[in-house]
Amino acid sequence: MLSSNIKKTVVIGAGVMGHSIAQVFAQNGVETCLVDLDQNRLDHAMELVKSNLETLAEFGKVSVNDIPAIINRIHPTPDLATGCKDADFAVEAINETIDAKKKIFSLLEKHCPPKAILASNSSSINIFDFVEIQDPGRSIVTHWFAPPHIIPLVEVVPGPKTSQETTEATANFLRKMGKLALVFKGLNGPSLVNRFQDLMTLPMWEAMEKGWATPAEIDLAVKAVMAIRLPIVGVAQRLDFTGMNLVLDITKSYGGTNPVAEELVKQGRLGVSSGKGFYDYGGRTEAEILRDRDIKYLKMLECLEKLDAFKPV
Ligand SMILES: NC(=O)c1ccc[n+]([C@@H]2O[C@H](COP(=O)([O-])OP(=O)(O)OC[C@H]3O[C@@H](n4cnc5c(N)ncnc54)[C@H](O)[C@@H]3O)[C@@H](O)[C@H]2O)c1
Repeated sequence: MLSSNIKKTVVIGAGVMGHSIAQVFAQNGVETCLVDLDQNRLDHAMELVKSNLETLAEFGKVSVNDIPAIINRIHPTPDLATGCKDADFAVEAINETIDAKKKIFSLLEKHCPPKAILASNSSSINIFDFVEIQDPGRSIVTHWFAPPHIIPLVEVVPGPKTSQETTEATANFLRKMGKLALVFKGLNGPSLVNRFQDLMTLPMWEAMEKGWATPAEIDLAVKAVMAIRLPIVGVAQRLDFTGMNLVLDITKSYGGTNPVAEELVKQGRLGVSSGKGFYDYGGRTEAEILRDRDIKYLKMLECLEKLDAFKPV
């Protein structure tokens, strides 16, 4: 199955994620069935798609004239068999329970054509631990982020038995849909990014429980640091600015070990100060690298202030 062969898709579950995933396919010219057990959810999903598209049009991301055709490419139905008929690519975005996922994969296998790729948008459970289908080579995780019609990344996570052909076809198809598709092979779970996000929420619950900070203070504190730095240096490169020696010292002070940082220090890759860390700074001086970073930080800060982003939405 090659991505160029994916002409029809089916999205199962018309909730927070499903309606918007279907919209992305339709925006890119792909006929898409949207299936939900609940007719009210289907009706609501189509209203949301219209409103999403109108917002995108305000930002020049779609043309107002194209909106009716995009909407017409989405075919809502409560009947799974109808939705799956002729589908080349199916993605389920139903409730996150093992029973529900197990059952839907059996049904997808039953109702979709034998060559269709069967994808899950699961965000926390590892479907490959329990999904049983005759050809597991065609099962894969495609983990989208809310809202799918805006966030560029889709994590593509093949299971131990997913075929190379399925992985490549899925990634290529998502790229054709305008998405940044990153393949995380061997990941034990459906999402790498969620691991970072989940770690961030642990101290949030603790701070609230222990009365250290209000929700508004937590959000302000995090935004006033991370909103400026994270988009520019991410998670790994930030440590090149911190300095790998310090990273190692901090790890040791917690009584931990860090083989990756140890190896970098051994190689003299201390970060920006030595011209190489995780990244190679191509012979630029430390002052030049810091200047490049600071210009981006200042622009980001300006942009956040313009958006009034330090206040809640
Ligand atoms: N909400 C998020 O931000 C987010 C982000 C990434 C991934 N996910 C994952 O996406 C999936 C869906 O999450 P959501 O937030 O869109 O859920 P949701 O509750 O908003 O929507 C789920 C929809 O699935 C429908 N449904 C349930 N069983 C069905 C079935 N057998 N056949 C057809 N329709 C069925 C429900 O009626 C409901 O409308 C979950 O696996 C979740 O972990 C969610």
